Amino acid sequence: MAKKEYYEDVRKQNLEPLWTIPDWFLSAEPLKTYGPYQWKWQDVYPRLLGAGEHMVPGLAGSRRVLVYAHPELRQSLGTTHTLNVAMQMILPGEKAPAHRHTPLAIRFIISGSGASTTVNGERMAMESGDFLVTPRWAWHDHRHDGDGPMIWMDGLDIPITRFLNGVFVESYREAMQAVTVADNESRKLFGIAGIYPKQIDSLTPANESLMAYPWANTLEALRNARETVTDPFEGAIVEYRNPRTGGSVLPTLGATMQSLLPDEETQSHRHTSSAAYYVYRGQGRTFIDGTAYDWNEGDVLIVPPWSWHAHRNLSNQHEAFLFAITDEPMLRAMGLYREERGPQK
Ligand SMILES: [Fe+2]
Ligand SMILES: [Fe+2]
Repeated sequence: MAKKEYYEDVRKQNLEPLWTIPDWFLSAEPLKTYGPYQWKWQDVYPRLLGAGEHMVPGLAGSRRVLVYAHPELRQSLGTTHTLNVAMQMILPGEKAPAHRHTPLAIRFIISGSGASTTVNGERMAMESGDFLVTPRWAWHDHRHDGDGPMIWMDGLDIPITRFLNGVFVESYREAMQAVTVADNESRKLFGIAGIYPKQIDSLTPANESLMAYPWANTLEALRNARETVTDPFEGAIVEYRNPRTGGSVLPTLGATMQSLLPDEETQSHRHTSSAAYYVYRGQGRTFIDGTAYDWNEGDVLIVPPWSWHAHRNLSNQHEAFLFAITDEPMLRAMGLYREERGPQK
């Protein structure tokens, strides 16, 4: 058979000769399929408040949420290729009804006071700087009994769950769950490392591990990290973990809180995980593959996989705090996590 006919014949059978497939099929290192992106809080905040006039959280589990949809990932509505970040708001007296879904969720509380999230019958407080998790397929609802808008950041693994065809969603039989255990039960059981109720192994709590991590604990852990660990690529950084397993806080998503002292700058590194940074406090600059992104409180900044990045605190007086959601646990689980340390090549 002549060469030309051979290739036509093979392709007619939906077979592709590997030796003709271009580099994107197997590249020497990860290809850049999307770039960095930044959302300024001054652009997001008024539009989030505006959603208060146009949408009321209602039945069928609907939420007042603005999704950070990366312009280069419009088809998946991803913030990165693996995760979604969104801002959610509820107003005084409102309830976001109970539902559950297989995509899991991280929540970082930004502002407001007096609201609560109930997960599997455990009600937990939400205050600025607190970190909450909702595991896969866990019933959850939110209510706001305080004053003023309550705003938090959601992080979910929707793009990867959809890619794996694993999405299920279900509404609860009633609008809100009954609270069945002591408020903040998981914090009371698992929130102090190394000290637990004597009966811990025989208990059947509403949630099997810690669901809410208060800001005061995060801050203390950061201070302790600053005194004990030196890492020129990170400043001081703590990772939220599951205290019962010692592993990442959720199977697919990880989260960190990082502190940069006045004028502190980190050295450049890159890794196969992607990250969505939220500027909790401070102002600074992040270099991503040589481009500078200046950030202020409330901004969200995307660092794509395998992109060199370094942070700098631009204030000579105030500490900066960067919260980040990453897909590092899923890359580690699949043996795909790699890090390269600068200087940038
Ligand atoms: Fe939800
Ligand atoms: Fe990094």
